[in-house]
Amino acid sequence: MTDLKTTQKKSLRVCPNQELNGTVRVPGDKSISHRALILGALADGLTQVRGWLPAGDTLATLQCMRALGVQIDQHDTTTLTVHGVGLDGLEAPTEPLNCVNAGTAIRLLAGVMAGQRFPSVLDGSYQLRRRPMNRITHPLRLMDAAITDTDGYAPLYISPSHLRGITYPMPVASAQVKSCLLLAGLFAEGATTVVEPGPARDHTERMLRAMGANIAIQEHQVMIDSTPRLHPLDLTVPADASSAAFVLVAGALYAHTAIRIEGVGVNPTRTGILDALAMMNVHIAQENLRDEGGEPVADLVVTPALLQGAEIQGDLVVRMIDEFPILMVAATQAKGRTTVRDAKELRVKETDRIAVMAKELRKLGAKIEERDDGFSLNGPQLLQGAVVDGHDDHRVAMSLVIAGLSAQGETIVEDAGCIRDSFPDFVEVMQSLGAKIEWIDENK
Ligand code: S3P
Repeated sequence: MTDLKTTQKKSLRVCPNQELNGTVRVPGDKSISHRALILGALADGLTQVRGWLPAGDTLATLQCMRALGVQIDQHDTTTLTVHGVGLDGLEAPTEPLNCVNAGTAIRLLAGVMAGQRFPSVLDGSYQLRRRPMNRITHPLRLMDAAITDTDGYAPLYISPSHLRGITYPMPVASAQVKSCLLLAGLFAEGATTVVEPGPARDHTERMLRAMGANIAIQEHQVMIDSTPRLHPLDLTVPADASSAAFVLVAGALYAHTAIRIEGVGVNPTRTGILDALAMMNVHIAQENLRDEGGEPVADLVVTPALLQGAEIQGDLVVRMIDEFPILMVAATQAKGRTTVRDAKELRVKETDRIAVMAKELRKLGAKIEERDDGFSLNGPQLLQGAVVDGHDDHRVAMSLVIAGLSAQGETIVEDAGCIRDSFPDFVEVMQSLGAKIEWIDENK
């Protein structure tokens, strides 16, 4: 299939030691933006979405939904209308659905596709084809889904079948697996119950409840039962706490007085990074706390801090699973020892984020002890500017940029075009705060 992944191997130059200040907005939440498209498509009627994230991952989902016959009007980059076709209204795609780099797209769509009357193929970039799919194909098969994978990986070949509800204790806490099964549960006979070993993000459940689904949400389990129709939503997507995390760490390290980030989602299943940074002596105020479309939102204000090492493990890990690359950078600048445990899932993200971050930070002179399920390091460490590699992993590339701000001398982050997968205006946002970061003009 044609690879929709068009990220160029662009590099960023980062200069150290600036004082940052100002107020910024970061883009819409990636998880909620994916779900707004998928769930909006399954509703009866028009779903209005404001603050949508127009990034590589979510645009892949948008293309997939269009390929399934769903009309999506983009009024501007962040404002959409999804013309929901109802639970039975998707059309057979004429080609494989290309999820590009988006793990959330392929895993959530697998749940939807398993319940359709037509066959489909789900595929993606070379990077997505390396991410484990057994975690969804196994429970989907327990629901009687007809799904064939490629030695445990994408492409996934799905044929029509009559799904039946199951009770599934998830072996790992994963919002993608949970959401996949809840979506499949919409098309299954009988109730589907997902039992959670930890507090994975709950955006799917919140949205399904708001759409009138027959769903029962308890602390460690979610049950969905037959639902005749979903009501459309009128949704404002909060700013992504995972994108805010880069600005928060930069602010804690380099703010002159304070940095404010407006309208950030502070759903408790996503705010582990705020708790971890608090343990590291970083003060982040949550102002104007409000509810927007069923999600808690606040303005976050971070002030400069002398960071201290911390021990991070257990449920906190699940609540900040995407924030470990930037946490590792923060730890290099913290006094004392930081240890992360119970984070083996990091090894199956866009990259093996423990190995890749340790490897790249070592190029800047950091000393990091890798463990199977985490890492330890002693700080603060003096970093020296160098050429590092973003490995086509957006969170790795942005974390290395923030590390570059801490280093002596210039840092070049190669293969950083992937930043557009989740935070397309990251460079502009950081520049507006005073950071000296720029794309290197490859033509010079
Ligand atoms: C996501 C869930 C998480 C997270 C990913 C987005 C989601 O993955 O890492 O970036 O939107 O459901 P897992 O469910 O695999 O932990």
